[in-house]
Amino acid sequence: MKTGVNMDFDQRVVVNANEMEWMESRLPNVFRRMLERENAESGRATTIVRFEPNSAFDSHIHVGGEEFLVLEGVFSDETGDFGPGMYIRNPVGSEHRPHSKEGCVIFVKLCQMDVADQDAVRIDSNRDEWLPGLEDGLTVLPLHQFGSENVGLVKWRPGTTFQRHSHPGGEEILVLDGVFEDEHGRYPKGTWMRSPAGSVHTPYSAEGGMIYVKTGLNFPSAS
Ligand SMILES: [Fe+2]
Ligand SMILES: [Fe+2]
Repeated sequence: MKTGVNMDFDQRVVVNANEMEWMESRLPNVFRRMLERENAESGRATTIVRFEPNSAFDSHIHVGGEEFLVLEGVFSDETGDFGPGMYIRNPVGSEHRPHSKEGCVIFVKLCQMDVADQDAVRIDSNRDEWLPGLEDGLTVLPLHQFGSENVGLVKWRPGTTFQRHSHPGGEEILVLDGVFEDEHGRYPKGTWMRSPAGSVHTPYSAEGGMIYVKTGLNFPSAS
């Protein structure tokens, strides 16, 4: 029985997180917007999470890995203080004790990491070197690659079109800034979309913008 949210990976999903209600969590100082999740409090989850100022949490182990991008505020743990634009990966089996003094909003993906992918990644997208993309008008910051999984940030200059392409392993996008578009729709800042394996599109951006993009999704094993 499917009890989760957006867990049918054959379906294309488009939601605007900025228009979703903040849902309470089991912690009083944590609120979230659920994009996809397997179970209420466990398993695969892709979420926008808001930590209130002066939040502190118990130490926890990442059973399925944790990947996140800081959108606002500052997220802290014993390895550092991470402001907007920081990209973090905490591999399977890693442990930390997070807190947030001023509060923060993060885009976080739990339990979708390969056990063998043991890189602890810390990338500051404000400082690391962006590269020219495949098309004039695109600038790319590679964030991580493992197996078929590829994660990066892409900046679109206004009026840029990218070539028509397919996603053999699916594609996931979070629009961080501006407006992203393709022949299926128009996606303003805050839009999260997941396209199934084999999907095809021709993306463009009239207004310009920035997106988080992951291809080669680690689909959950059929159950
Ligand atoms: Fe964590
Ligand atoms: Fe694509």
